[in-house]
Amino acid sequence: MTENNVIWHRTSVTRNLRETANGHKSVNLWFTGLSGSGKSTLAHAVEERLFSLGCKTYVFDGDNVRHGLCNDLGFTEDHRHENIRRIGEMVKLFLDAGIIALTAFISPFRIDRQQICALLGKEDFIEIYCRCSVEICEERDVKGIYKRARRGEIQHFTGISSPYEAPENPALLLDTDSKSLEDCVEIVIRYLQEQGLFGKGAPKMLPN
Ligand code: ADX
Repeated sequence: MTENNVIWHRTSVTRNLRETANGHKSVNLWFTGLSGSGKSTLAHAVEERLFSLGCKTYVFDGDNVRHGLCNDLGFTEDHRHENIRRIGEMVKLFLDAGIIALTAFISPFRIDRQQICALLGKEDFIEIYCRCSVEICEERDVKGIYKRARRGEIQHFTGISSPYEAPENPALLLDTDSKSLEDCVEIVIRYLQEQGLFGKGAPKMLPN
């Protein structure tokens, strides 16, 4: 809700200046997929690569953000909308700060991801679909959470008792049930190079 009397403060250190100083553009890599599809693992692995190349990065992931910023939210449809909305606003600030923001949230609803895209702008929102069948996610069940959902101990569980709406036209579709982590990282980094992410400023260690 926007109150009158609140005026956006314009800064003299602009996003453009920050990006030039950093030697890369700021952008959002939005990883979406079922719980256990490998979003967080991949986001962290891509971050490691980008960080080692000298980029300014940060990973936000569902489990962590839900401990703080969104610890008042559950998993009903309304709460998930609000979860994703807050994350979108936070990412917007991080882009302004010149950071490559990697986000790993199930974000099961297409409308929410479309709204993030509208908020950030098409150029700044790179949707990466970690496609992995619910059977495989359930088989992995790293957190033992699918078992609990099957026993009915967790309500509104994505893929079991709550829907997941797959992206129709993601920037990247990664079959995380069959592709190795290393291959997925390479695909993301190559894509960013092709998009000219590293084209700003005079990066020392960045790839051409
Ligand atoms: S989202 O749907 O709102 O985008 P988010 O990514 O923040 O979800 O959180 C997902 C994580 O919360 C899962 O990885 C899982 O560990 C945990 N979780 C707890 N309850 C649920 C549930 N009902 N559905 C899905 N994930 C859940």
